[in-house]
Order: sequence, then C-alpha cells, then structure tokens
Amino acid sequence: MSKINIIGAGLAGLSAALTLAQKGQHCRLISALPSERAQSVMAEGGINAALDTMGENDTVREHYHDTMRGGVELADPNAVWNLCSDAPETVNRLCSLGAPLQMNGSELILRNFGGQKKKRTAYAKSSTGKILMTSLIDEVRKYESKGLVERFPHHLFKTLIISQRKCNGVVIADSYTGKTATLSGAVILATGGMNSLFPGLTTGTVINTGDVTAEVFSLGVELANLEFIQYHPTTVSIPQKRCLISEAARGEGGRLYIEKNGEPWYFMEEKYPELGNLMPRDVVSREIMLVKKQKNCGDKVYLDMTGIEESAWVNKLSDLREECIAFLAKDPKTEPIEVSPGIHYFMGGVSVDEKHRTNIDGLFAAGECTCQYHGANRLGGNSMLGAVYGGKVAAESAFVVSDDFGNEAIQWEEDTEKMALRESSVSEKAGVILKESLGIFRNEKQLQSALSQINELIIAEKTDYRKKRLILAKAILLSALNRKESRGAHTREDYPDRNDAEYKKTTIAVFDGNNISVSLREIPIKRGTEQ
Ligand code: FUM
Repeated sequence: MSKINIIGAGLAGLSAALTLAQKGQHCRLISALPSERAQSVMAEGGINAALDTMGENDTVREHYHDTMRGGVELADPNAVWNLCSDAPETVNRLCSLGAPLQMNGSELILRNFGGQKKKRTAYAKSSTGKILMTSLIDEVRKYESKGLVERFPHHLFKTLIISQRKCNGVVIADSYTGKTATLSGAVILATGGMNSLFPGLTTGTVINTGDVTAEVFSLGVELANLEFIQYHPTTVSIPQKRCLISEAARGEGGRLYIEKNGEPWYFMEEKYPELGNLMPRDVVSREIMLVKKQKNCGDKVYLDMTGIEESAWVNKLSDLREECIAFLAKDPKTEPIEVSPGIHYFMGGVSVDEKHRTNIDGLFAAGECTCQYHGANRLGGNSMLGAVYGGKVAAESAFVVSDDFGNEAIQWEEDTEKMALRESSVSEKAGVILKESLGIFRNEKQLQSALSQINELIIAEKTDYRKKRLILAKAILLSALNRKESRGAHTREDYPDRNDAEYKKTTIAVFDGNNISVSLREIPIKRGTEQ
C-alpha cells in the first residue's frame, strides 16, 4: 500500500490525515509551515450545523437551502446536500476530540451568522479556528506516534508527477536544506486561497500564496468559478493585510451605518428588514459601496457594536474586542469602527466533483483551494465545515485508489531553484492591475484593460513561478470577462442582471500549455427527493 501525500496542514489537510490514519492508511502531511501557523488557525466566527439546540426547529434542509441560496444556485446541489447532512456529525466529532466549543450544559450553543435565519453556528468566542485546529493537531499526533502520519513541516510543494492524466506523486523541497524529493502516491491538495495575487488586500495569510493552484493549473488541472472572490463587509486595513471584524459581531447585534444628512442611517436594516446586517456577504459588501456614493451620505461606513450586551462581550466576543484594541487601537464597546469590504475568501479554485476528485486520476483537493460547496458566494460558518468535511471526503476517495501506486524510498537531491527564496506576492504592478479590475463592481473595459496589461507582464516575465502566478491571474480575468451577468460576488456594471438561462453554470478554466480556455459546465442535477 503506498502512502498518500497531503499538501497543506490546515483544517482540510488535518482532517484528511486523520481520516486516512483512522483507516490504518499511511500518509504524509506536507506543509510550508507547521499546522499551528496555518490560515485555519485565524478563522474566527464558527462552524455551521443544523444541530437545532436553540429551539428554532432548524433542519438540514434549511441549511441546504440557505447554502444554495447564499451561493446563488451555483454550487453542486448533491455536494451541498452531503455537506449539510453530515454537518451535525462533523461538529459532534470535533467535540468528541475535545474541541471546547461553547456549550450550555450538554448542548452546543449556536449563534446567528450571515444569510441564515436560524441560529446554526457553533463557536468558541471568535477563535473557533484556533480551537478546532488545536484538537485536530492533537488527535493527528496520536497517529503520528504510531507511524501512520509522517509530517513534513517547512516543506514546499514544487510540482506534481503526472503522466497520461494520472498523478503519480509530488515533488517537494525542504525550505531549510533546499533539497528536493519525489514522493510517489496519490495526492490531496489542501493549500488554501490565492492571496499572493492581492498583496495587502486580504484577511488571509500570504503563506497561502496560491502557487500550488498556479502550478497545477499549468499542468492541466481544471479550475472552476475563479471569478467569485468574496469581499467580507467588515474589514479594516492594517499594515500588510486586512483585519477581520467577525460577522459574529453583527450576529450579536452590531449595526452598520453611514451618516446621512448628519444622522446615522442603518441602511441594511432599512433595506433588508428580515436579515438586516446579516444578509449574505456579497449583498452587504455591495450595499456598503453603494451607500457611500449616495447623495447626502458621508464616505465612511461604521460598525456600531456599542449596543452589544455585556454578557455577549464577556462570553462570546472578548477576543474580538481584544483584537480591535490591539490592532486598531479602538475599543468596540465604546466607539463605532470604520469598516470597508476586503478580500476574505476564494469561492473558486481546483474543480472537484462530489467526491473531491479532480480531472486528473490520483489527484484530489479539499478546502479553500477548491471550488466546492459555495457557488457564487460563501455563507459565513460554511468554510470550516467545508474544510473538515471536504478533507474527509477527499481522503476517502484517495484511500480507494491507494493500491494503484508504488512506494519508492525517498531520495533527496539538490534543488537548483531555491524555492524558499520566492517572493510572497505578485509584483506591485500586477497587484494594482488585479485590485482595480477585480473589485466588487467590474466591467468589460476594466477587465479587458487588465487582461492586456497582464498579458504584457506574462510575456516580459522570465521567472517560471511568477509567470505561472500571472497565468492564474489571467485565468481569473478571463473567467470574469466570460460571465456576462451579475451573480453573488461577481457584479458586472455592464450586465447588472442575473441570467440563469445562460449562466446558471460553473465556469471552467483549462490551460493547455499555451492558451487558457474558459467554458461553462452544467451544474449537476440534484438527486433524491429532499426539497
Ligand atoms: O466573519 C467571520 O467570522 C468569518 C467567518 C467565515 O468566513 O466563515
């Protein structure tokens, strides 16, 4: 039996490793940094599951419908159904590993999150990611001690070994010695978002560069829905990145407003009486941009958390308050905080089917690096769920094929490229081009102009990995140009309406070594009778 190679040691990677180890399957967990420094540790708000512990008659069906509606009907309905059906078990399993999510007696407390009418989000204050990661890290260590999980922290993904549309292994480089090795066996990618393309503009870490996505794209792996980039409505610019003010703050009563005629105008509450400040993120971000342009309005939107009850500050948001004080020098309990939308999540990525298989045999993917579950816009609380559940499904699929590979001994060789010296982001010039064309509002003129500028940069670029990043950027621009409608996180000023007849489809981008082709693929039909 060959070992399975997992690239990335955040929630999705750990979940995959644990699933394999529990089956007695050996795996390697390879990551640029140790799990403790993965992006997942920074995830704040919570994890969704229709556990119905709050007396609201919540159901899996409602979680499914909220997720599909939130994603504006672009997600794979069968995958979403599986995700939502398994969510209560996923969360209970995490609790059984010792994850101290907030409880009332023996029942999990759930809170309100965006795009959902029922309380469905289990949490540990606003450090849910840290808590879940700690439990998974500990659990995986047990299997490490049995030799079933072999860790390779501080190792970089270099490339895949693919022949005749089958992935036979992966080449990695040791960041310290600079040596490379080829590891045979199936591969699971769990490498997070494409933050290097938007330097300083994301809430995510630049350690998740998106270089793995860029590399596998160059090898013929299909990417999907790249145009859907989530802008989280409540972020604040800080040096090098954007600081997230968790949606949990609005779940506990935080209110967005803008000054209009000298008075605070709670525009979300007025325009969306049912969900108000907790509309899905694409809607809230758009509204923030629009109200700033309105007559008699100021140009700053504030999040007012001063009305949040003392008990919520103590029991649910104490760490959020501490972060605001530490990073923004503002106490949210006593003063409103100016916020604006910032890039938070990539709904698009490696195209996977319901079983997390890619278009290359032996290659699987899970977590934010994939396009799965979230369609045109992700609901808060579904990303950690998607990562943990997706990691498990990818591992189960990889396990099925694990006998099809060899198990050669690892040979380390000198690396000529010195991968550890790579820059963490695209050039300043490319960053500006992408920022200006792939905002919340887009149009043909800006996208075409960005495309021709990126084309010039591709031609001029001599370094292989930088060229691949630019080719990935080009694929995003082409995907955005191809979708001539407005849906979810993709708003076209020149095509303001949603057009289901032509575009209720998945965008697929493929690179053949010379050209990128972008096409639309039908969304799978929902099986079963659940409505
Ligand atoms: O706002 C937040 O706490 C983010 C949560 C998420 O992206 O799921």
